Amino acid sequence: MATDNVVWHKHEVNKNTRAEQLNQSPRVLWLTGLSGSGKSTLANLLEKKLHEQGKHTYLLDGDNVRHGLCGDLGFSDTDRVENIRRISEVAKLFVDSGCIAITAFISPFKADRAYCRQLLEEGEFIEVFVDTPLEVCEQRDPKGLYKKARSGEIKDFTGIDSAYEAPEQPEVHLTYQEEPAEQTAERLFELLKEKGLV
Ligand code: ADX
Repeated sequence: MATDNVVWHKHEVNKNTRAEQLNQSPRVLWLTGLSGSGKSTLANLLEKKLHEQGKHTYLLDGDNVRHGLCGDLGFSDTDRVENIRRISEVAKLFVDSGCIAITAFISPFKADRAYCRQLLEEGEFIEVFVDTPLEVCEQRDPKGLYKKARSGEIKDFTGIDSAYEAPEQPEVHLTYQEEPAEQTAERLFELLKEKGLV
C-alpha cells in the first residue's frame, strides 16, 4: 500500500479540544437524494439556521466540489464511487476540525454512504434522506438535465439510466410535501433537533 512506510502523527490539539473550544458536537449531516430533490437548497437553508445559532459549519456541495476537488470525475459508477470516497475523507477532516459539515451529493450507492459512516465515530454520521419523488424532481428539472437524459443527450443520469439506492434506515427521512423550501428546511431542522442530532 502507498501508506506502508508512512506513520500516523498524533497531534496534541485534537478533535475533542477543538470541539470543546467551538462548544459543539462535530457531525456530518449527509443529505442524499435524486438530482433536483432539493439537497443544495435545503443544505444552504440548514447551514444558515445552524450558523445563526452560533454553530461552526461548512457546506460541501456536489455541483461545487465537482468544479474543483472532483473536477476530473464524471458520472460512471466508478467515478461516483471515487467522488463519494473523496468527499467522505474530506468530511472526516471537517469533523476532526470540530466542524458540523453538511454534504449535498446524490450519493446513489448504499455502500459509499456506509463507507463514510464507518470512517467516523458512532453518532457522528447523520444520514438525511431527501425523499422527493422522481416525478417531482423531473418536473422541477432546474438545470434541464432530466430533459437531456430522456432524449439521450446525456447518459448515466440518476433515476433514468443510473441507479439510486434509497437509504433503508436513515437517521432522518424527509418526506416530500408541497411547500416552500423554507418550510421544508424548518421541518428538517426540527427533526434534527427532536432527535438530538444537532
Ligand atoms: S454523485 O452521484 O456523484 O453523488 P453529485 O451529487 O456529485 O453526484 O453530482 C450531481 C449533480 O451533477 C446533479 O445535481 C446534476 O446537476 C449534475 N449531473 C450531471 N450529469 C449527471 C448525471 N449523469 N447524473 C446525475 N447528476 C448529473
